[in-house]
Amino acid sequence: MITSYNVFVPSIMGCGSSLRTGIKVRELGCKKVLVVYDKGLKAVGIADTIVENLHNSGIETVCFDGVLPDPPDTMVERAAEIARNEAIDGIVAIGGGSAIDTAKGINVLINNPPPIMKYFGMQKRLKLGVPMVFIPTTSGTGSEVTNMCVISCTSRGNKDSVVSPVCVATLAILDPELTLGLPPKMTAATGVDALSHAVESLTGNQSNPLSDALARDAIHTIAKWLPIAYRDGSNIEAREQMLLASMFAGMAFTNGLVHLGHSIGHTLGAHFHVPHGVACAVALPEVIEYASRTEYKKVRMICECLGVELPVNATPEEIGAAAKNALRTLIKSVDIPNMKELGIPLEAVKKVAPLVTADSGFALVPYRIPSSKVAEMLLSAYEA
Ligand SMILES: [Fe+2]
Repeated sequence: MITSYNVFVPSIMGCGSSLRTGIKVRELGCKKVLVVYDKGLKAVGIADTIVENLHNSGIETVCFDGVLPDPPDTMVERAAEIARNEAIDGIVAIGGGSAIDTAKGINVLINNPPPIMKYFGMQKRLKLGVPMVFIPTTSGTGSEVTNMCVISCTSRGNKDSVVSPVCVATLAILDPELTLGLPPKMTAATGVDALSHAVESLTGNQSNPLSDALARDAIHTIAKWLPIAYRDGSNIEAREQMLLASMFAGMAFTNGLVHLGHSIGHTLGAHFHVPHGVACAVALPEVIEYASRTEYKKVRMICECLGVELPVNATPEEIGAAAKNALRTLIKSVDIPNMKELGIPLEAVKKVAPLVTADSGFALVPYRIPSSKVAEMLLSAYEA
């Protein structure tokens, strides 16, 4: 089989690495950058420290601190107008997936006219934007190393994504000290998002040897360190390992792609306002159990990464069942609620299966599966 690996983002990592932002931005030749973050990051002082660091390197800054969760298209378009009017020549985004995806959306609109919804889907001919430096403060989305941004379309009431080289960072700076303040609930929700990226890309139909290696390492690391980071947020080694795993999982999925877990996640997120990572994780064990029918060699790898020993002659069903149990144990160990605990009515869950199969990501599912089977999975996961 011929495969290719297309997206690679240069990165620097380590405690204090965010204090090299100014030097790195200057090396990229930027003189005036748009710094993108949300008000929460301003409140804890992280944004100000990095802005000051940029100033110390002689970089002029324009700050956009109005990032909203699930970035709405209208907000992205407003920020892009500021970027164009100020003639910035670089973007620095600090924060979780929302801040980084906002920066990507802005970059799309620097040299391509709005609205952003015109560019949803795979885009190969967009005019290039400016250099972008991403500094994640959560460990989960992997957005700092992917080639897409997810934007909420306010007129249609759904989310869609732009996939383009214009969305790829010039540099990612991974400083674990910036994730120390992440509360346990967010640590868990973003951590299981990274887990979903890794196990879905490993079993996806675009997987390749390099994305597989990254995904396997990420699963192994998340299994060991997510429960520790969840219980003790001040454990810097756990924070560093989770940041690394999130990046590896992001690199795996931007090349290997995700599938049914994320289609379920997008649907539950849109209809019941469940945080992205939680929405992807609630039925992930069932998704991987089902994938074992055809992808049992890959599901066996997931079991190995999770420390589950299987007999040499285990059947695809046995491998699937073992993976389901191990994934659920890991997800439960960080107190991810099930759909019942999330307050989603059983009747409503029964109705969303056809919407899952209508999700744009459903085309990437590596096996054919009817919506009746998706409904069965959701019901099995409802109280699990
Ligand atoms: Fe995700």
